[in-house]
Amino acid sequence: MIVSNTGKYTVVSLLVNGSSQDIMIRSADTLLCTLRNQLGLTGAKQACGNGDCGACTVLVDGKPMHSCLLLTMEALNSGITTIEGLRHSPVRQAFVDNWAIQCGYCTPGFIVNGHALVTEHPDAEDERIEEWLQSNLCRCTGYQEIKDAIKSALNANNLLDSNGIDTAEQ
Ligand code: FES
Ligand code: FES
Repeated sequence: MIVSNTGKYTVVSLLVNGSSQDIMIRSADTLLCTLRNQLGLTGAKQACGNGDCGACTVLVDGKPMHSCLLLTMEALNSGITTIEGLRHSPVRQAFVDNWAIQCGYCTPGFIVNGHALVTEHPDAEDERIEEWLQSNLCRCTGYQEIKDAIKSALNANNLLDSNGIDTAEQ
């Protein structure tokens, strides 16, 4: 929501990780730039800066988006979730448990994207996981542990009934 406009800058209200904040932006600011420089949320990274690597992935109304390609102005009426807002995501813990944590540049984007996959496609199989991960790049190591982590989060998710109760413990 636009709060006020003072020429070069516009004061807007942005909903990030469940909390609404008033900030001053320029019309050309990317969402990535606003998150990092205005809100101090540095989990999303600027790497390629042109939509190829996924290091800047955040959720916009639950959908994974490359925040380097999105203007903050375009996200004003949406709910944004960053890696900082996914502290309790089972995907985050699955990355730890499966040794899928890689460097600080690629890992946040993989976790955010993986969280969206588990949420949107709880029955995802190998082919969909492969396809889903194509939006995130790592040139230095393998993808196997990442796939294992996502599968393990999917399995854990499937052990929850529709009320969120862990059926493995009943
Ligand atoms: S920094 Fe956005 S996709 Fe690479
Ligand atoms: S880019 Fe992070 S480990 Fe390769």
